[in-house]
Amino acid sequence: MAIRYLENSKTLILETAHTTYQMKISKYDYLLHTYYGEKLSDEDLSYLIQPKDRGFSPNPYEAEYDRTFSLDVFPQEFSSDGCGDFRKPSIEIKNGDGSTAFLGKVKKHHIRSGKYSLPGLPALFATDNDTVDTLEITLQDEATKVIVVLLYSVFEEKDIITRAVKVINQSDQTIYLNRIMSTTLDFMESDYDFIHFAGRHTMERNLIRTPLRYGVQSIESSRGASSHQHNPFVILCRPETDEDHGDCYGFSFVYSGNFRCEIEKDQFDQTRLLFGINPRGFSYQLKTGECFDAPETVLTYSNQGFAKLTHQYHDIYRNNLCRSHFSHLERPIVINSWEAAYFDFDDEKLLHIAKEAVDMGVEMFVLDDGWFGKRDSDFSGLGDWETNTSKIKRGLPDFAKEINKLGLKFGLWVEPEMVSEDSNLYRTHPEWCMKIKGRAPVRGRYQLVLDLSQKAVCDYLINTLNHILDSANIEYIKWDLNRNMTDVWSSVVDFEHQGEIYHRYMLGLYYIFDQVILTHPDILFCGCAGGGGRYDPAMLYYYPQVWCSDNTDAVNRMSIQYGTSFVYPINTLESHVSICPNHQTGRTTPFDTRGTVAMDGILGYELDSTKLTAEEKYLCREQIASYKKYYDLIAYGDYYRLTDPVKSKKYMAWQHVSKDQKTALVSIVITNKESNEPQKYVRIKGLLPNQFYSIKGQDGVYSGRALMKAGIPLPDLGEYESVQYYITAVS
Ligand code: DGJ
Repeated sequence: MAIRYLENSKTLILETAHTTYQMKISKYDYLLHTYYGEKLSDEDLSYLIQPKDRGFSPNPYEAEYDRTFSLDVFPQEFSSDGCGDFRKPSIEIKNGDGSTAFLGKVKKHHIRSGKYSLPGLPALFATDNDTVDTLEITLQDEATKVIVVLLYSVFEEKDIITRAVKVINQSDQTIYLNRIMSTTLDFMESDYDFIHFAGRHTMERNLIRTPLRYGVQSIESSRGASSHQHNPFVILCRPETDEDHGDCYGFSFVYSGNFRCEIEKDQFDQTRLLFGINPRGFSYQLKTGECFDAPETVLTYSNQGFAKLTHQYHDIYRNNLCRSHFSHLERPIVINSWEAAYFDFDDEKLLHIAKEAVDMGVEMFVLDDGWFGKRDSDFSGLGDWETNTSKIKRGLPDFAKEINKLGLKFGLWVEPEMVSEDSNLYRTHPEWCMKIKGRAPVRGRYQLVLDLSQKAVCDYLINTLNHILDSANIEYIKWDLNRNMTDVWSSVVDFEHQGEIYHRYMLGLYYIFDQVILTHPDILFCGCAGGGGRYDPAMLYYYPQVWCSDNTDAVNRMSIQYGTSFVYPINTLESHVSICPNHQTGRTTPFDTRGTVAMDGILGYELDSTKLTAEEKYLCREQIASYKKYYDLIAYGDYYRLTDPVKSKKYMAWQHVSKDQKTALVSIVITNKESNEPQKYVRIKGLLPNQFYSIKGQDGVYSGRALMKAGIPLPDLGEYESVQYYITAVS
């Protein structure tokens, strides 16, 4: 078993191939956290907690005259509130009598094999190839009888620990849960850097690294989506940690709605990390006997820097997260109509684009926004999911057939969670959108958000979507979301339940996904939220891929893909070649480079194929051919970031290495050209030091050691030009 309880020391130990996680049931039955990091033996690590009389840090009543036992100082596994720990709490509750205290003590624990699941919520699952064990620890507040169950699953070989929390109201009165953090992790030191991924629409997931300072530092989303602005993923690492060396801890939250991660450096230079649903706007009523399931956090640790941390996340998310079998298949090469035509098209124009795309080697045509309702701009039409026959004159089924006749698969765009005020749906059901009674709603892209906390709305969307999917030969769906939530209030619940709407919306959305996506396993779904506004593991449970950003500029894309790659596998990241000057930045880059960058993901095209030159079409065919040749390496290999977009002033480079370390693909793009430059060398990673390799198109063989330690000379290329090196082991 990867989980053990040692009776003598009252320690609970979770063990993976390379890590140990330890807790101790202390005197008075408080659950203390003693260690997480590199694998150790079964020794009791509670000696690390040095009891001292600390002024203004109070002591539990049962400690009597012992002033060294304080919940304000000791590292805890799930912190109490209002009972002597002044640091940020794991829980905030309003009890039946109006008090807000919660003090959890261990009542029981249980170890079993297999992975826990969470009702209504996405979570990692075990496959037949995994050894997974689960620990459940029940804490109870002796005064109120409220119960908290801490859940841990250990993916032993994958060095992954997942955590989740359940709150069960076993008191005899109704309570309100105002905060519940899925993970609490206390470290006895604070010499760490906090890394998170911040951004904005069209510029998502830029890596931010800062040393911890006293007090609370946090990231969050209160937008009703995981958001472009902050991703629900953070790293804590030692100041010296880099891609290849040093300790780092990853925390990835499996949820697509409001989240918060808080890190507190306390008065004694200790660190507490909390990750969970954002308490802002959250208040959940629990009647006697009712239970609340908080989403999962996925934890990992590496003592060899960020590259290993990334490999651990990529491996677990590739194999134990996405339910779709497409996750393990090569995806079709898509041409998408958005940047080619925006709203300005009819079926003839689109068929022309599709026909020319065949010549490029494309395999699927995706009809983006504008095909339905009165949708000639973003002012109207959302909610009316009938084909606009003034644009698609032959109707959707026949249009799909025409596309198929060209030898292409057919894909379609939808944005089901939204409604335009100028739509039949809104005119019929104005009460179905998020809107506060007596208050004009805030608009975003002229649209309003449907209230998915309402069962009627979910059922309507399930029927509508299933009808669309079954109406034509649709083999791909791009599921978009183009605004964030405001006016969060539901017309169908009373005062006491309004604080549940953000979360009930997510449960409604996951329910719809269960009924639409999981019932159409042969349709490939691509998630999108104005690009990467909802790129999170919960979405990847349903969609095998996400449109990474609305920014298709190759130079900006390298930074976006760099940040995204820390946690999300390359075969989840959809990336397209578009025309230049680029529509978002106005920059011009070589066609080849756009291909090199888009190949660092799921390659596709986002352009009007009828406007390409013969040479560009030839380049497309070449790009597609080499992408297919290297697909397994790109999709399933280990990923290495060779440069950092902030520090590397001259070029960007990244690398895919096969699991057997016999083949590698290195991609390099020059980002800044100077005259009469010094020679630079690119050091390759992940090869076998004593193995000899050849580089495609070059004479000679090189040892892995030479390629890794001395590197390869950076070739003389112009600004924004790129090169790819395919490296193979010679026998
Ligand atoms: C935002 C998406 O990210 C784009 O690719 C496109 O689908 C538009 N929405 C359509 O409105």
